[in-house]
Amino acid sequence: MDEERIISSQVRNQEDTALDSTLRPKRLVEYIGQAKVKQNLEIFMAAAKKRGEPIEHVLLYGPPGLGKTTLAGVIANEMGVSIRVTSGPAMERAGDVAAILTNLEEGDILFIDEIHRLPKTVEEVLYPAMEDYSLDLIVGKGPSARVLKLDLPRFTLIGATTRISMLSSPLRDRFGATYPLSFYEEDEISQIIARSSRILAIPVEESANTIIAQRSRRTPRIANRLLKRVRDYVDVKGDGIITESLAYDALGLLEVDALGLDMVDRKILAAIVEKFGGGPVGLGTLAAATSEEEATIEDIYEPFLMQLGFLERTPRGRMTTDRAHEHLGVSLDSPSKLFG
Ligand code: ADE
Repeated sequence: MDEERIISSQVRNQEDTALDSTLRPKRLVEYIGQAKVKQNLEIFMAAAKKRGEPIEHVLLYGPPGLGKTTLAGVIANEMGVSIRVTSGPAMERAGDVAAILTNLEEGDILFIDEIHRLPKTVEEVLYPAMEDYSLDLIVGKGPSARVLKLDLPRFTLIGATTRISMLSSPLRDRFGATYPLSFYEEDEISQIIARSSRILAIPVEESANTIIAQRSRRTPRIANRLLKRVRDYVDVKGDGIITESLAYDALGLLEVDALGLDMVDRKILAAIVEKFGGGPVGLGTLAAATSEEEATIEDIYEPFLMQLGFLERTPRGRMTTDRAHEHLGVSLDSPSKLFG
């Protein structure tokens, strides 16, 4: 399902990955938005540099696509160190993380995306590694088992997660700084689109930039992807310049509405309205009713629907709001209109 979604905030394919590396800012001054995080990071990094130490471990959290990986790369650049990138699910065994840790150099950054998905056995190797730069290997079995301690270089772990509540407290406690990334302001997304279009040499009218920005769910990854899809459209239907009307048509064809909602968002809202009278409905029931996975609804769709004020999470379940009903053009008295 998600592969089909133009407004998915997840990395989807090789094009995204290649796109990311050209468009990703390398320095903090190029990084648009997240002002509070940047201010704090500046001090955090300057202080470490002044003391001649590596920075303490950093935890970044927030919805997908907001620039956690980008920020980790920026930190590495600013500190003048190498970064090794991996993810929670990619590390299956304690040996996987041990191999990476022993290959780091002093000051290097290890970036672990989706850190909430680390297996417990891997997490336990990280505790002494993070705390004392010590790799504790268990050698042998049963009564003759011994702990072999190896010294590691002083490294920095940067963890990223969409779900801070899923991190165990021993892991959370080992981060010296935790920074939340939040949805961008619309004018920040416009600045990101302007920057990306300069880098990719795509001419974009200002009013067209605004239309793309309004539909980007306040998420840079989505803004960059929509920019590319609109470019495709104007290359075929126009003369290569992204004008307001071409942007409008291209986004209409992609079924991304004026607020950036797509078919799946509308399906979720419509299910709550039509099948459950506006809620409250439990997550499991909603997942079954929409054929989407619970985790996908929770991590990908709900954060933005809540940000828009379209959805509320209550102790008894999910509820749609009047604002959502207005946007969808339904009233709770005649919800069937949605499915026409
Ligand atoms: N690309 C992705 N996130 C960005 C940001 N915050 N600033 C500039 N370019 C970006």
